[in-house]
Amino acid sequence: MKKKFKVAVLPGDAIGPEIMAQALRAFEIIQKKGKAEFEIISGDFGANAYFKHGHAFPEETKAVCDEADAILKGPVGLSHEESQKIPVDEQPERGAILPLRARYNTFANFRPIFLSKEMAHFSPLKPEIIMEGVDILLIRELVGGLYFGEKERGINPNGERYVKENLEYTENEVRQILRVGFEQARKRKKILHTIHKSNVLLSSVFWNEILEEVHKDFQDVTVSHLLVDAAATALCLNPSQFDVMVMENMFGDILSDQGGGILGSLGLMPSACVGPEKSYYEPSHGSAPDIAGKNIANPYSMIGSVAMMFEMSFGLESEALALWQSMRHTFESGFSTADLSKNNSNVEILSTEKFGDKVMSRFESLI
Ligand code: IPM
Ligand code: MN
Repeated sequence: MKKKFKVAVLPGDAIGPEIMAQALRAFEIIQKKGKAEFEIISGDFGANAYFKHGHAFPEETKAVCDEADAILKGPVGLSHEESQKIPVDEQPERGAILPLRARYNTFANFRPIFLSKEMAHFSPLKPEIIMEGVDILLIRELVGGLYFGEKERGINPNGERYVKENLEYTENEVRQILRVGFEQARKRKKILHTIHKSNVLLSSVFWNEILEEVHKDFQDVTVSHLLVDAAATALCLNPSQFDVMVMENMFGDILSDQGGGILGSLGLMPSACVGPEKSYYEPSHGSAPDIAGKNIANPYSMIGSVAMMFEMSFGLESEALALWQSMRHTFESGFSTADLSKNNSNVEILSTEKFGDKVMSRFESLI
């Protein structure tokens, strides 16, 4: 029986629709080759949705997402000046992204920090450090911690303004993300780096206690402890020591952007946000309003998010691999886009669309 999937597509703001258009071509090609069938349903999401419907994550879009097997989301957000036109609670980060994560309890965020050997020149790190490329899977807890804790602001008895934000995790929440970390480590090099701040934070002491318990079920995996501040240095000086890294929400937000820095651009970072029933896929970066509409944004992170969806939500493993290979092949054949390769005379600069053409014609020939 042919596989049939319903995919909710949320193109997002600024460069979102441009890179999404390229990513959607992969679904058409798979369908044309008879490998699977897709029903694509779309919804407004982000700042554009706010201006159209009065909400960044409108009810109509929630309904579209509810009926889908998986969700593909483009980047959202506007420039600082433009977002001032939107009330704080409806700005896309608070009004759309966090509610989307909460709605589907997408607690496990997979952020690959990956550059093939041939793409190592994109990295700002010296060749002796990055020569062999880099292949790290950063796993970030995505629906707890400070980002979702209770918040309060007010005036204290001394008449001073104050603010309070809570960092809360239950043992089950910590256990479930750690299990994901161990499972991935078991599939890869069997080394798991736990990133924390146990010299200061009680939440990190708690995290590591649960880790000891979960480790009993994964005795074939070696655990390595690293404080988050030291991890930031180690990622620059010796990224190849890492394979799978697991950490709570805010640490993962910060270190995954540093991962993008090591790659040379956040534009090289797709991601998967995995929940118990439904997952959504998105680039790790913002919507880059400064280059929107210019047809120069590289679609790698959006197409990579589709590859992750193929593999993780639909079991289309060989198709996912072929899509990755097609992107690598396009770069390795000397093509790039202006956002990634500003002053590199060794590459031929293509538009977003033409870059998509190269990737998709390769993809079509591989599957
Ligand atoms: C990310 C983003 C989001 C986050 C923002 C936009 C809410 O920075 O996905 O890393 O902080 O998680
Ligand atoms: Mn971030």
